[in-house]
Amino acid sequence: MLRSRFTPRASAARVLVLVVVSVFGAAQPASAQQPKPVSFINDVAPILKENCLACHDAKKKSGKYDMTTYDKIRAGGANGDPVAPGKPDASEFHALIVTTEQRRMPPRDKGEAVPKDKAAVIEQWIKEGAKLDAGLDPKADLVKELRVRWKPPVPPKAYPFATIVNALAFTPDGKHLVVGGHHELTVWEIATGKLVKRVYTRAERAYGLEFLPDGKLVVAGGRPGQEGDVRVYDLKAKGKTEGDVEVLDGVNDQAVLVKHLFDVEDSVLCLAITPDGKTLAAGGCDRAVRVFDLSEGVDKAKLTQTVENHADWVLGCALSADGKYLVTAGRDKTAKVWDLKAKESVVTFPEHQNIVYAVAVKADGSAGFSVGADKQVRTWKPNGEGKQVKNAGGHGDDVFKIVANPKQPLLATSSADKTVRLWNPDTLAAGKSLAGLTDYVYTVAFSPDGERVAGGSYDGSVAVWTVKDGALVKAFNASPGFVTKEPEQKKK
Ligand code: HEC
Repeated sequence: MLRSRFTPRASAARVLVLVVVSVFGAAQPASAQQPKPVSFINDVAPILKENCLACHDAKKKSGKYDMTTYDKIRAGGANGDPVAPGKPDASEFHALIVTTEQRRMPPRDKGEAVPKDKAAVIEQWIKEGAKLDAGLDPKADLVKELRVRWKPPVPPKAYPFATIVNALAFTPDGKHLVVGGHHELTVWEIATGKLVKRVYTRAERAYGLEFLPDGKLVVAGGRPGQEGDVRVYDLKAKGKTEGDVEVLDGVNDQAVLVKHLFDVEDSVLCLAITPDGKTLAAGGCDRAVRVFDLSEGVDKAKLTQTVENHADWVLGCALSADGKYLVTAGRDKTAKVWDLKAKESVVTFPEHQNIVYAVAVKADGSAGFSVGADKQVRTWKPNGEGKQVKNAGGHGDDVFKIVANPKQPLLATSSADKTVRLWNPDTLAAGKSLAGLTDYVYTVAFSPDGERVAGGSYDGSVAVWTVKDGALVKAFNASPGFVTKEPEQKKK
């Protein structure tokens, strides 16, 4: 379950399509004729990252050998520089990966041999003098350098696959839905279910979408296993028109991408902002939640603390309205409360005994709510011993998300059972079960006026209902140009 929630699904067809798209996208006719010299950073470093750095990073330094920078690679380990420029055979750096002897890199009992075509790249690089790219600092951290240099692809005009909807949000006027797509955000008119805007993003996926009081959109997301970020976009900026759709370049256009808050080495999975827009929290795979003070505006955002309170990924976060309490959900099977003023842990709520996917908190901080792989909604005291007040079943499968209505005492949850449910936060008496989606519902959001609720699903479908009577307002697939076919087989 968790794999499908937070990592790419291993559908051969889907991977193939993406490969084809990116190959055509990157085709450069000029380079086809003459082989370019091997680039250390573009050609060699990715191979080292993939095959060597697990043991030769700054922490492990197996064989006293740290390979995190060019300088360190050339300094070598216990036996000195393993690279003899021009002579691959005399270079342990190459010889150890192609050898037929017992001592090989990676060590035979620890990993697969480096693929032949990759070993040939390293051989060629050494033959050509084992050079460093012009302009690259020999002391630059290679993993960071690769991340910075990586260029996101332009999203396909029409999706050959259904996007996984991990996050969605109503626009401040309540008329549109912003949905996380593939390297973009898509904006849909609710009344017609029509795509009106696309905003390209560096992040492959959005996991958290929150509007600031000034109408700018904060997005937490990333590229699984590679990078994660929180960036701020102005969706009102001017874009290009393509047919009926306006296209905004949130990768390069500074009028669209108005702020880059931070980036890390794996996905940022959750995002919370206080209603006054002054405090922002975002956490994810690095187990940390970064907290920013936005009281002087997002331009002058200040990182106030990095909370490392969970033993595993942080999957969900919420803030009390005054910005005092941070409530978090962890893959470590706990929900936790952190006092942001005192900078200390308040309580751990252990009752789920299984992955906790999401949390919510009563605006005044007097009640915590959490949901998880135990299929339960639980409410508990966020202070003292973290005592459970109540729990409620109802969902027939994992519960992925819980959100609080901004205007009335009402909670909404979304589940792998393909439904969204509404709950009274005080009694946890289940209100309506909202149907209309056709796959795991990963995310749910209320409209700013509190009168509507929207769910987004694994198969790209989204649905909007009215809270009052549970009536379905609109349902559509939020994958641009995708022609809905039989749902793909998936692994559970
Ligand atoms: C699973 C862990 C692991 C991986 C992956 C790995 N190594 Fe090693 N490496 C070691 C260990 C342990 C040693 C020390 C023992 C030895 O020298 O045989 C070592 C030693 C070395 C040395 C000798 C250093 C010295 O000065 O003694 C070189 C060179 C080296 N590795 C290169 C590589 C390269 C290149 C890769 C990737 C293609 C790689 N290693 C991948 C574990 C690993």
